[in-house]
Amino acid sequence: MNQTLSNNMKQINSIEEYNAQYKQSVQNHDVFWADAAESFSWRKKWDTVLDWNFTEPSVKWFNGAECNLSENCLDRQLATRANQVAIVWEPNDPKEQHRTLTYKQLYDEVCRFANVLKNTGAKRGDRICIYLPMIPEAAIAMLACARIGAIHTVVFAGFSSTSLADRINDCQCNLLITADAFYRGEKKIELKKIVDEALPQTTTIKNCIVYNHRNTAIEMKQGRDLWWSDLMKNASVENKAEAMLSEDPLFILYTSGSTGKPKGILHTTAGYMVYAGYTFKNVFNYQNGEVFFCTADVGWVTGHTYLVYGPLLNGATTIMFEGIPVYPDHGRFWDVVDKHKVNIFYTAPTAIRSLETYGTEIFKTKDLSSLRVLGTVGEPINEEAWHWYDKNAGKGKCPIVDTWWQTETGGILISPIATVTKLKPSFATFPLPGVQPVLMDGQGKEISGNDVEGNLCIKFPWPGMARTIYGNHERFRQTYFSSYPGYYFTGDGCKRDADGYYRITGRVDDVINVSGHRIGTGEIEDAIDEHELVIETAVVGFPHDIKGQGIYAYVICTGKVENEEKLRTEIKAMVTEKIGAFARPDKIQVVKGLPKTRSGKIMRRILRKIAEGDISNLGDTTTLIDPTVVGQIKEGAL
Ligand code: PRX
Repeated sequence: MNQTLSNNMKQINSIEEYNAQYKQSVQNHDVFWADAAESFSWRKKWDTVLDWNFTEPSVKWFNGAECNLSENCLDRQLATRANQVAIVWEPNDPKEQHRTLTYKQLYDEVCRFANVLKNTGAKRGDRICIYLPMIPEAAIAMLACARIGAIHTVVFAGFSSTSLADRINDCQCNLLITADAFYRGEKKIELKKIVDEALPQTTTIKNCIVYNHRNTAIEMKQGRDLWWSDLMKNASVENKAEAMLSEDPLFILYTSGSTGKPKGILHTTAGYMVYAGYTFKNVFNYQNGEVFFCTADVGWVTGHTYLVYGPLLNGATTIMFEGIPVYPDHGRFWDVVDKHKVNIFYTAPTAIRSLETYGTEIFKTKDLSSLRVLGTVGEPINEEAWHWYDKNAGKGKCPIVDTWWQTETGGILISPIATVTKLKPSFATFPLPGVQPVLMDGQGKEISGNDVEGNLCIKFPWPGMARTIYGNHERFRQTYFSSYPGYYFTGDGCKRDADGYYRITGRVDDVINVSGHRIGTGEIEDAIDEHELVIETAVVGFPHDIKGQGIYAYVICTGKVENEEKLRTEIKAMVTEKIGAFARPDKIQVVKGLPKTRSGKIMRRILRKIAEGDISNLGDTTTLIDPTVVGQIKEGAL
């Protein structure tokens, strides 16, 4: 139990080692992953390393083994780093004191909260919803769920009451953990009020645990709402982690797809653990004692894998930043780096692009000499932003790892290995060991060779992959394993250049990526359709200098709209209410009709082109029921 992961997990230190590990991971995958798994602590070792087929699909890693993720993050570290800082919390307001939790303090808090969960009746297999701001209690709650074997589902605190209720209902959570309120920049978000609106739309929640973060006056519903601090006072600090089976569910995280409501992506215990630990250590070339700063919110998968689990599995110090990059000014990220002597910094291209607009003067006053490795995630990074990041944050000496992955993949799949891989700006470069990407052509065949482009699939399982969509395995099969039978289809397009480097080109389905947030166009359409004047909506993405993609909505209304500006304001409010502010359309065009084919399908290709401002060549429109609508839409384009 007292071994530390970093002492015995192989780290890739040269391109030769990468090539050797990659080769072994393909030719002898069981030996490769069993070797990586040896670094963790197990209550019982596995019977088989991997059982799989991509037809059902069914994937089982380390089957028959028993372990606990919370125990691996915490108990396993105590012998060597009890007094080392595990989490540094940097508040929204820099004038406020930051908080630190050592591994021992975090362990105590997690054990205590695990007992709180048990005392309120939570048990193994229950679904527990976490709707918290970026405060250490979010990590404590996640780790406590994992400790007792409950399945956490974290809902990003930017989601609306409707989205929260939908998620709670879909996986039937019986407990909700939230806070009174929090600030993002100068804006106060009254989280508990949103919860109070959401809960009447649900039937399964028995209790709501509330953390008092901002001393905001809130209503506590008798019999339902309980204060975090009251419960913690009475809870014991002794807690033995549950022995979980490898394939026991660990968490559910909702993400958007082309159609329908968000899907509850389900990850299981052992494979996720091994993959999070392995990829964190290797992609970032993590060295003992280093400080890691991932700017993602815990409500997204990046926050799960590379803010909480990956770093803690490696005994790292992880920074949790409550604020935003531009408050109180646009130097805030660099202040945090300077103040906490951050060694590895991991953020989204959208943040880089937004900071780029403020110029570089601010860097003169910041000491960024602690930085050694930089990373990006969530969307393609354009070359200009890459160079700006490299020059100003990295001073030309820090490798940038452009990490490609998804909620479904659990961890990074295609990425440079820091200090090892020769970089190419805007390329995610090469697959990690254990990852076998292929590009598919229009006929569903693998494209061989280099200097090619196709749809990105993965042809062999990796330990961190999702196992199902909660409660709907058929939807899982349909969504990811039916377009190319026998392959996992990512939904992304990809190029492989003449040197074999991979470059992700973006989604090839109806999912858009706005500031690194993944949103289904159908979800926004459904929200807009709720407006009383709207008959039909079509939403597409368009290139946006800062957000990567912006949201363009075409709406058909009943009768003549008297006041279009008012309509736009109301539609934006509607989307904020139904989904969250981040899904608000940038442009809303009122149209008389949409370009539909005879089978009633909207020809989105045309709408995308118009939204991009590229109206010269709209391609073949002869299959449309009424080709004249195209001209009308073009005339009114925004
Ligand atoms: O389109 C890809 C894009 O983000 C999608 C996954 O979104 P989500 O599940 O929210 O997870 C984001 C964080 C892992 C992918 O299908 N994406 C993610 N990383 C990159 C990327 N596109 C290009 N380059 C990347 N590095």
